[in-house]
Amino acid sequence: MLILAIETSCDETSVALYGDDLIGQIIRSQIKLHQPYGGVVPEIASRDHIHQLLPLIDQLLLQNDRSLSDITHIAYTSGPGLAGALLAGASVAQGLSKAIKCPLIPVHHIEGHVLSPLVGNTNVTYPYLAVLFSGGHSLLVWVASFREYHVLGQSIDDAMGECLDKMAIMMGLPYPGGPEIEKAAKLGDKYRFHLPQPMKTNDHCQMSFSGLKTAVKNIWMTLPQTEQDRNDLAASLQHVCSAVMLNKVEVACAQFPVQQVVLVGGVSANQYLRQSLESFCAKNHISVGYPERSMCTDNAAMIAYTAYLMVQHNIPVLTQKVRPRWSLGDL
Ligand code: KG4
Ligand code: ZN
Repeated sequence: MLILAIETSCDETSVALYGDDLIGQIIRSQIKLHQPYGGVVPEIASRDHIHQLLPLIDQLLLQNDRSLSDITHIAYTSGPGLAGALLAGASVAQGLSKAIKCPLIPVHHIEGHVLSPLVGNTNVTYPYLAVLFSGGHSLLVWVASFREYHVLGQSIDDAMGECLDKMAIMMGLPYPGGPEIEKAAKLGDKYRFHLPQPMKTNDHCQMSFSGLKTAVKNIWMTLPQTEQDRNDLAASLQHVCSAVMLNKVEVACAQFPVQQVVLVGGVSANQYLRQSLESFCAKNHISVGYPERSMCTDNAAMIAYTAYLMVQHNIPVLTQKVRPRWSLGDL
């Protein structure tokens, strides 16, 4: 089996080859194209995916000494994500599968993220609690095994990454804001501003980040907006995001026999979040895992791996449509 996978749900164009293991992958970020606008422009994203995909597939095959005729399956992200961006990947995948006469496997992007820590050299094994924070999604999933997922809760409005991105722009920092908030926070006092911790509770894992944006904005508007103000507010915001995460992990641990927590998605690169999760878990005798570095952000390797498991488990392909809105519970 040789799977070619295509990921184009947002602002990374990525392609990967998977046999019984990951053979190779290329990720091309569109950050530079979107930076002047302070966020992802969907039309620019779709057009660039179309430009990039075929040359990237050629490059991937060449680098790994394979040709199109070696491919046995084509996988692509069919949702959730930006409609136009998803369509770009789906069209190329559908065209190629017709040309080389091989089956097409539409993959759920969130399922890819949730399974990403199982690809490559990590110590993660089933069952585990997956904690996903990215620019588009925030959710906690109990992963008992492949296709045995229990979504414990998710954000009812913005994702954590989206909140960080928007607050960074407001404070004059470039896109993407998450890493900028982390940099600024290193120089700031996290206790200077008291931000409300949204949906703090001991009985559910639902989250919300929209009101937090308003709280940060209201504070920012009363300040002289010096460099120190920005660093302190960034540190306070990062601190409250970490508190939300720990609160929800604690609730999840009360509901499931959690011995392993895995932090996935773009925000999982944040060292402050990692350290606070690690110290919480150490106190509770729980291990912490992460995907390999290249699999924290959007990538085709996780899509290829999910498709590989789908083939192994004979999961029928029900639709080839793209689904911009698609909950993990509807798999
Ligand atoms: O998973 P990802 O690459 O794409 C989506 O599916 O959204 O996640 C991107 C998100 C952005 O919001 C970005 O600001 C955030 O991950 N991010 C970070 C860090 N690096 C990336 N947030 C906080 N700290 C970081 N170091
Ligand atoms: Zn993603």
